[in-house]
Amino acid sequence: MRIRKAVIPAAGMGVRFLPATKAQPKEMIPIIDTPAIQFIVQEALDSGVEDILIITGRGKRAIEDHFDRSPELEEFLRAKGKTEQLELVGRIGRLADVHYIRQKEALGLGHAVLCARKFVGGEPFAVLLGDDLVRSKKPCLEQLIDLYAELPGTVLAVAEVPPEDVSKYGILDAEPVREGVYRVKDLVEKPPRDKAPSRLAVIGRYVISPSIFSILAETPPGAGGEIQLTDALRVLCREEPVYGLIFEGRRYDTGDKLGYLQATVEFALERPDLGADFRAYLKQLLKALA
Ligand code: G1P
Repeated sequence: MRIRKAVIPAAGMGVRFLPATKAQPKEMIPIIDTPAIQFIVQEALDSGVEDILIITGRGKRAIEDHFDRSPELEEFLRAKGKTEQLELVGRIGRLADVHYIRQKEALGLGHAVLCARKFVGGEPFAVLLGDDLVRSKKPCLEQLIDLYAELPGTVLAVAEVPPEDVSKYGILDAEPVREGVYRVKDLVEKPPRDKAPSRLAVIGRYVISPSIFSILAETPPGAGGEIQLTDALRVLCREEPVYGLIFEGRRYDTGDKLGYLQATVEFALERPDLGADFRAYLKQLLKALA
């Protein structure tokens, strides 16, 4: 079955980025000049997804405005002859059919995904988390979709993380199927280092079987008092195949300040309009620091 629908949870409070997130959604914080969520929407579209549902909450209006047309701005740019910017702004408004639903209470990622139940219906779907940005040859989600086409079930993007980082992620207990592919036997959300079954961490890209919804509806609050997607996936992996895929690409945790800086610097180095000047500046700076 094709993966036509993607869900992007974006209802979080952005506590780690206060005060920037006091009056604006954390998903709108830009990497250079592009809001992080635009990269996520683009990845979903580049992976063949047709319909996108963003789970928002109070204070997230700017996300809807961003993906909407902006007639006043477009008119202003047209009048000023700023054709390049006009094209850029218009293109975002035409990117995709983006749908929105509000998560009315901050009850966790599992609850946010459950809010997508009616939108998704009975088909397998994708979930993309906004804090994880992946730069890769083939979009990370498309890599999962390709594996799904071969091994139907649920597919999680996985990366090996250092032992001191296992407590930040959902961690797999899994056995290898082949190089880079694991069959998940169990999962644990943010285990302490000495309790982690492996160093295989779930990164924020998933292809999920619709069976998850009835499981989520029964899942009690777990770590942090929140309904955890990991807890529902744990139940799912006993009933249906769940795979972990070590994806190709460089991943940035933009929900973390250092990860955000790394993404900004590395994305800037890759930009045709900025890369050369920025590289020269960094070299100079490094010399001065040495
Ligand atoms: C969430 C998930 C976790 C996953 C992580 C990936 O955690 O609960 O299982 O490993 O995303 O980024 P969060 O980062 O929202 O705390």
